[in-house]
Amino acid sequence: MNNFVYHNPTKLVFGKGQIAQLAKLIPAGKKIMITCGGGSVRRNGIYDQVVKALEGRDWVEFWGIEPNPSVETVREAIALGREHGSEFLLAVGGGSVIDGTKLIAAGLLYDGDPWEIVLKGQADKTVPLGTVLTMSATGSEMNNGSVISCQETKEKFPFNGDYPLFSILDPEALFSLPQKQIAYGLADTYVHVLEQYMTTPGQSRLMDRWAEGILHTVIEIAPRIRENQHDYAVMSEYMLAATLALNDMIRMGVAQDWATHMIGHELTALHGLTHGATLAIVINGTLRVLREQKRGKLLQYGERIWGITGGSDEERIERTIAANEEFFRSLGLSTHLSQEGIGEATIAEIERRFNAAGSRFGEAHNVDGAMARRILEACL
Ligand code: NZQ
Ligand code: ZN
Repeated sequence: MNNFVYHNPTKLVFGKGQIAQLAKLIPAGKKIMITCGGGSVRRNGIYDQVVKALEGRDWVEFWGIEPNPSVETVREAIALGREHGSEFLLAVGGGSVIDGTKLIAAGLLYDGDPWEIVLKGQADKTVPLGTVLTMSATGSEMNNGSVISCQETKEKFPFNGDYPLFSILDPEALFSLPQKQIAYGLADTYVHVLEQYMTTPGQSRLMDRWAEGILHTVIEIAPRIRENQHDYAVMSEYMLAATLALNDMIRMGVAQDWATHMIGHELTALHGLTHGATLAIVINGTLRVLREQKRGKLLQYGERIWGITGGSDEERIERTIAANEEFFRSLGLSTHLSQEGIGEATIAEIERRFNAAGSRFGEAHNVDGAMARRILEACL
């Protein structure tokens, strides 16, 4: 195992009716800014629960943090927060609202433009924030990551902000999600695990087993959620699986990949494709092109997750990659770029961007512009 520091300070408050705990969770006397998306929380009653819990507190609200939150919107929120003197931020929504709020938290204490924080990749100081999660996918409720888009330049980059002080996870908040969003959320969760697992074998039995436990869980619950997304027990497992997939727990001391995500962010930036949709396509190309490098792990993944044991190693790897792709198809998602009308022009632009930035992603630092092209061509 590699050396590592593990310090995840987010308090998870899980279960039915837990939004009422807000009054206790937000330090007394703080001026609060509530941040929301486009209105789903008004329609499903979550906003009303938040307002009730914050009775008597000093707060303002900011609406309109969009999916793939933009720095343009964040600038408006920072202006409101400054005017109000906000000292605590409460994000009520999915990964986009939380990520946008992480940049607001940093921007409130920064003299320059918030996009500079994104380009730097790291926030220095932040206003504390908490979250009420309504969409399970990103793990943003229990990590310090945030991904921000710039509409003007069609760019999308991650940066490190702060961990939420607390996150409230009420599985009933997920009942109103459109089925397609759930499919994206399950795909994102699954690929988060693969980014931290599908590297080199033999680094840590413990990390492997935790990762495989999440993969098995997602595969088992996906069809059950499609049958009944008001099944509290099943939605609880979905909610927790998504959080644990990206809260630092399964990456202690092991190598990580993240090339699929970085290529996926470009597809979102250039085409507006939803995050989970990009991953369901790109991961298949990553596994095909890097099958030699990932060979040991592909064999382990095939055997332990998909029960693939017979035949030569090459046949097993072939069947494993096919089973992986079939899983994303079973979620109702596209697994090829052509299904989304994306082709050579986009591949050329992503290759250009990776080369210009000198990018070298992946556990072997070998996913540069040329490799990104090969991966994308394998997804056509
Ligand atoms: O805006 P509203 O009206 O709230 O609607 C949202 C949005 O349209 C809707 N929604 C959310 N909760 C709902 C609901 N609709 C009905 N009922 C509910 N309970 O769902 C839509 C999608 O929401 P969004 O927050 O965009 O989804 P997600 O949680 O998947 O977040 C995606 C963003 O997070 C980034 C992605 O790149 C993307 O920008 N990621 C963040 C990460 C992190 N911070 O660690 C890691 C991830 O890999 C990812 O990159
Ligand atoms: Zn993701």
